[in-house]
Order: sequence, then structure tokens, then C-alpha cells
Amino acid sequence: MRPAQYFATCARGLEPILAEELRQLDATKIVVSRGGVSFSGNWTVFYKANLWLRTAVRVLMPILEAEVTSPDELYQAVQTLDWSSYMTPDQTLAVDCNVRDSRITHSQYAARRVKDAICDQFKARCGRRPSVDPESPMVGLNLHIDRDRATLSLDGSGESLHKRGYRPIQTKAPLNEALAAGLILRTGWAGDTPFLDPLCGSGTLPIEASWIGLRRPPGLTRRRFGFQGWLDFDVRLWTSIRDEARRGMRKDLPAPITGSDSRRDVIELARANARAAGIGHLIRFGRADVRDLQPPPGPPGIILCNPPYGRRIGDERELQTFYRTLGEVFRRCAGWRTWIFTGNAALARQVRLSVVERVPLFNGAIPCQLLRFATP
Ligand SMILES: C[S@@+](CC[C@H](N)C(=O)[O-])C[C@H]1O[C@@H](n2cnc3c(N)ncnc32)[C@H](O)[C@@H]1O
Repeated sequence: MRPAQYFATCARGLEPILAEELRQLDATKIVVSRGGVSFSGNWTVFYKANLWLRTAVRVLMPILEAEVTSPDELYQAVQTLDWSSYMTPDQTLAVDCNVRDSRITHSQYAARRVKDAICDQFKARCGRRPSVDPESPMVGLNLHIDRDRATLSLDGSGESLHKRGYRPIQTKAPLNEALAAGLILRTGWAGDTPFLDPLCGSGTLPIEASWIGLRRPPGLTRRRFGFQGWLDFDVRLWTSIRDEARRGMRKDLPAPITGSDSRRDVIELARANARAAGIGHLIRFGRADVRDLQPPPGPPGIILCNPPYGRRIGDERELQTFYRTLGEVFRRCAGWRTWIFTGNAALARQVRLSVVERVPLFNGAIPCQLLRFATP
């Protein structure tokens, strides 16, 4: 196969981390843009991207680019493709659409025009047409219109890649799994030193850290990827890539991973999530107040946590005291690298340690920072 150009989408701010992940997968022509990274490669790179990328939301294969100023122009552009090379009329399809700064403003109507163009072409050529399945289509399409430039892509991932399948029940403010993995990767932690999250909530950071430490791809046990419904799906290649990933996994963590939280119910949930992630026996979870934290014995490692920051849970005044306490706790942890992820810069200042690294990121729409503090 000729190398094709793909686009991996991600949450804003994670683009450079995603680009680095793609470099590790031997992708070429890596170009960072807002909300994602384009890259080139053969099917091996494309399948690996879906299997391995920890920070991506989905991996797309663009098949059409066109200037469009109206839904009718969009319809005409979509009809220029020969859709029989992408699907059969017996398959189901769905079109997902987002629009920005364009004369076409109604994303649902735009998606419908794309679907009409495909179905009309099939009907005219063979008298049958694919039906729509918005929930789990055999072939998913993604339409992105930005300043009148439409990009139509086959969606190689299907359901969003951040849905790892280990977190069926939500706590109040869990971190998105892809964001959690992005934070860990950005700290440079690679699995061989201890990892501690003393505010672990539902356990997202320790669980993602374990998968990194074990070299386990996040998509290993995923039920289905979008590309499995494509006409040219290479099942042999895909199976060999997945088997190779399985063989390369570590059986044990090279260094301990620990999560604690003051709430007993939350710790039970973290344990259940870890079991669902297949690593319940590897992570040490325990109930503890962060105020009582003493650095665990043995070699130092990394502390990474996301303290509450007032917008969603917690009260600002109490939180000021809480962040000050965090600073005192970090001071006790000589040799450890200490990081927090927060959406409140004023609260972060209450830690009262100098910041040695500051990474701007987003948690959904909330501007946040990943901060590394200087510890003795
Ligand atoms: C923003 S949440 C962390 C969410 C977590 N990263 C996840 O993915 O589910 C903050 C957590 O800090 C915990 N917490 C608050 N005060 C605490 C304290 N004094 N000691 C330990 N944990 C505390 C809360 O119970 C909550 O689970």
C-alpha cells in the first residue's frame, strides 16, 4: 500500500504529546495542528496508531477535501467519489460532523447531505442503499468544515479511543483517560520509578500509569475499531500487530504504582476499575488523607495528582488551605518529582514552591496547567 496521510484528533493542548507518540510508532510527515496531528504511514502505522495512541480521540483517514459554501455544494463534492470503493450498500453508515467559521452552519444538516449523496449514488447505480446506524455503524464518516473547507474522512477508530472500557461507573470529577495518559507522558515518567497519586479518585492516573509501565496498548481489549468494517481491512496484519503487542508486554510493573484517597467509597471504585483494566493485582490502593502522606520507602519516584480546583467540586477558601498543605507534603518528599494538574492558577500559587515546569492544557473547556514544583 502507498503511504497515506491520516489525522489523529486529540483534546486541545495534547497535540505535542500525541506527535511524540506518533514518532515512536514510526509515523512520518508529522504535522501538529489545532486539535490533532496529521501523519503519514502504511497500514501497519495506521493500525498501530489506533491500538497504541494513548492521547488520541480518533484516527481518521481523509478521503475528500473541498471548498464548500452551501449544503448543495457539499452534496455535489461527496458525489464525485466512487463510494463502492469504500463500502457496500449492505453496510450501515453514520456521519459525524463539526463546523467552524463557515457559511454552512448547521452541522446536522451537513451530515445529512453527505449521507444523502452517498445513498443516492448507491441507489442510482445498484438500486440499493446503505442504511444509517448512528450507534454502531459498520462504516463511520467524519466531516469537518473549517472556514468553508470540508474534509471528509473515514473514521478508523469508531467509538472514541479514550473509552478504554475499564471505567463503567463515573465519580464526581474523573479525569478523561486520554488526558490522564497525556499528563503522565508529559512528565516523562516511563514506568521504571515509583508512581504515586495521593488524590487518586477513581484511579485513572494509576491505571493509565500501569498500562504505560506494562507497555500495554490502550486498545488491546477493545471490542471493535472502525477500520474493521472497511472493505480493505487486512485481518492478518491487524492480528499480527495485536499479537506482537501482547508478546511485548511486561508481566509485572518494574516499579510500584500507588493510589490513595481520603474517601473509602472512591477507593473501592478505583479498585473495581483497576480490576476491570486487568491490573487489579498490580496497583496498591489505600484509603489515606494526603495530609498524613509520608514518602514511601525505597527509591524516589514521581507524585502526580489532580487536586480539586473549585469549578466542579470543592470550595475555594477551603481549597487554599488544602493547596498549602499539599506544598508542605511535597516539601517532605525529597528526591521525588512532584506534579499537579489544576484549573486554578491562584490555588496553585498556594502550594508555595517554585514552579520548574508549566504546561498549558485543557480539561474539556477549562484552561488548566500541569505544574512541576521544585522539591528539596
Ligand atoms: C479531582 S478528584 C481526582 C480525580 C481522579 N484523578 C480521577 O480520575 O478520578 C480529587 C480527589 O481528591 C480527593 N481528596 C480530597 N481531599 C483529600 C484529602 N485531604 N486527602 C486525600 N484525598 C482527598 C477527593 O476524594 C477526590 O477523589
